Amino acid sequence: MSKFTGKTAVISGGAEGIGLSIAKALAEQNMNIVLTDINEENLQKACLELEENKVSVLPVVLDVAEEDQWEVVAEQAIARFGKVHMLVNNAGVGGDSTSIESQNKKAWQWALDVNLMGVVYGAKVMVPLIKQHDEGGWVVNVASMAGMGGVPYSGAYTATKAAVVALSESWAGELESEGINVSVLCPAFVQTRIYDSERNRPAQYKSDKDTR
Ligand SMILES: NC(=O)c1ccc[n+]([C@@H]2O[C@H](COP(=O)([O-])OP(=O)(O)OC[C@H]3O[C@@H](n4cnc5c(N)ncnc54)[C@H](O)[C@@H]3O)[C@@H](O)[C@H]2O)c1
Repeated sequence: MSKFTGKTAVISGGAEGIGLSIAKALAEQNMNIVLTDINEENLQKACLELEENKVSVLPVVLDVAEEDQWEVVAEQAIARFGKVHMLVNNAGVGGDSTSIESQNKKAWQWALDVNLMGVVYGAKVMVPLIKQHDEGGWVVNVASMAGMGGVPYSGAYTATKAAVVALSESWAGELESEGINVSVLCPAFVQTRIYDSERNRPAQYKSDKDTR
């Protein structure tokens, strides 16, 4: 029995890619999984796959940029599993690849809302649930190597990931006395669909030529 056995993890952006791999790894440690994603169809597929492998999994559709949707995840997680011990803030988008002169406000807002505010809202809603049972827990933020050094033509992505690294360091100090460990994962290149993030861009973040 590991220290994770029977505990519950909430994972954002868990329908595919790194998020789904993390879900499988945590399930191997016998954790209950609350799997969330903006893409309902992929989320259902991922949950079926996990259930076929006898994982206790609860799917909840979540756009991480919407704080009220995090509240729904919290309610459903508590109703199904009773407690939350781990938050994995994994959902992220690549943002636009553009020169300095072509920066666009809507594209920036999309990267900021998903990659940065999504992480903030996740912690704001889930950390109180982790604190309330006094068993300690974990917050894992998925940033990027881009957050440790700049990527040319990816200003918004780089800036949001650097912010997630900094936030994680701040939260580690804040939560240490509560027995909550904060980690930040900074992957290099992993073969996923991050380079096709456009598929997940909601209409309000789509830019037209005249938008600055
Ligand atoms: N793949 C890489 O090379 C790489 C490198 C460094 C960091 N990362 C980071 O890893 C994390 C996971 O990315 P990935 O490579 O698995 O990408 P991916 O595109 O394969 O998967 C991302 C998942 O997040 C979901 N998602 C997108 N927008 C969302 C939103 N607003 N709310 C909720 N879910 C949303 C997608 O539907 C998808 O299931 C991201 O934070 C990314 O920045 C990836």
